[in-house]
This record gives sequence, C-alpha cells and structure tokens, in this order.
Amino acid sequence: MRGNGLIVALSGPNLDQLGQREPAIYGTGTIADHIGAATAAAAVHGYVLEHFQTNHEGALVEAVHAARARADAIIINAGALSHTSWSLRDALAGFGGVVVELHLSNPAAREPFRHTSTIAPVADGCIAGFGGLGYPLAIEAVVRLLTGTSGQ
Ligand code: DQA
Repeated sequence: MRGNGLIVALSGPNLDQLGQREPAIYGTGTIADHIGAATAAAAVHGYVLEHFQTNHEGALVEAVHAARARADAIIINAGALSHTSWSLRDALAGFGGVVVELHLSNPAAREPFRHTSTIAPVADGCIAGFGGLGYPLAIEAVVRLLTGTSGQ
C-alpha cells in the first residue's frame, strides 16, 4: 500500500561481497553495515526500510514488481546491472514511486563502461561517490522527495 512509509533498498550483483571486494574502491563496510545505517536514518523520519540483495537480474526485476504495490520509494544500487540492464530499467519505469540510484564509487570517474546507466533516466536522482555515506544520504533524499521538502 502506498503511503505506508515503506522504503525498499535493492542491491544487485556482488554487493553481498562488500567488505572483502576491492576495498580500495568500495571500502571495508559490509552491505549489512550500510543497510544498518540507512535503516537508522529512515527510522529517525518514521520510515521503515526493507532490504533485498540478489546476484540475479530477474530476481531484481521481480523485487521491483513486488515493491510496486507496497513501497513509497526504492533506493537501488544495481551494481554492474546499472550499466547493462534494460529489463531493470523497464521495471523501475513501471514502479511509480520515488527512485534513487545509488553507488558507493563514482562510476563517472571510472572505466568508460560504467559511464552509462540504464536506470538513470527512470530515477529521480543519483547519489554516487560518497562510499557508505551514500546510504543515509539516499534516505535523506527519499524522505525529502516524499515529504515535498527537497527545495526549490
Ligand atoms: C557500484 C558501481 C558499479 O559500476 C559496480 O559494477 C558495482 C558497484 C558502486 O556501488 O559503486 O558493482 O554500483
């Protein structure tokens, strides 16, 4: 049900490896650390955060479908699927709520294949390059968009 204060965080391939995966790029925090920080930030504003991580594109698409009837917003770090997945783009286009794209690193400052995002055109905005801080920042962005306090 829309308007119930639910935010869904979705994590794509390889994000279950955070903490051990290329720490010089992605930091030493685990996905549990980041989701914990985001959950706490959401609770301050009276929102509940649910998280789902998968290494499978279809499962991520189905998680977007499942969120459609339930959630006010999706925060999505789709990992490399951000650069390749048209099916994820189409699923997010049909979501209808607030969508924030999130990356720990700054893909624009990395290899050319990371410079394209299939989901950017269907997101309200993107937070990238701030490491784990991006998770509470994404909550802040979602809450402000949902409450109409995102500025002029
Ligand atoms: C990432 C950036 C992507 O390019 C990469 O494939 C990831 C992680 C990030 O959080 O910085 O898996 O989404």
